[in-house]
Amino acid sequence: MSPEELIKTAFQALENAHAPYSGYRVGAALLCEDGTVFTGCNVENASYGLTNCAERTAVFAAVSGGRKTFKAIAIASSTAPAPFPCGACRQVLAEFCDPALNVYIADGAGFKTCTLGELLPHAFDLGETDE
Ligand code: THU
Repeated sequence: MSPEELIKTAFQALENAHAPYSGYRVGAALLCEDGTVFTGCNVENASYGLTNCAERTAVFAAVSGGRKTFKAIAIASSTAPAPFPCGACRQVLAEFCDPALNVYIADGAGFKTCTLGELLPHAFDLGETDE
């Protein structure tokens, strides 16, 4: 799947955003190693701290759907600023993805490409675990 197609899917996911408090709508589309795409949107709450970002919604949907290996993620917002992932989402992505993961950041005007390693060098890692 091309970056443009993945970004289009992220914009479609954005339509489901629940963002009545910030008005900042975000969509994410996560491309799995097997070609499946899982999407997510931001889901806000009246108790603001309970808000879930679009990227984490997509990762949790994918893991719940039995996928843990990913090739790329597109993150879209039609409102400025461009939706670079927050620190929490970078760390959640680092749980499953290597630093080479492609990250496409799209706003209404175009998109930028970077890698997870560029966004989060020295991610926290406990090292070897049972899984
Ligand atoms: N948001 C995301 O969905 N992803 C991010 O990486 C950063 C922020 C959402 C959370 C909240 O609903 C809104 O953007 C404003 O912070």
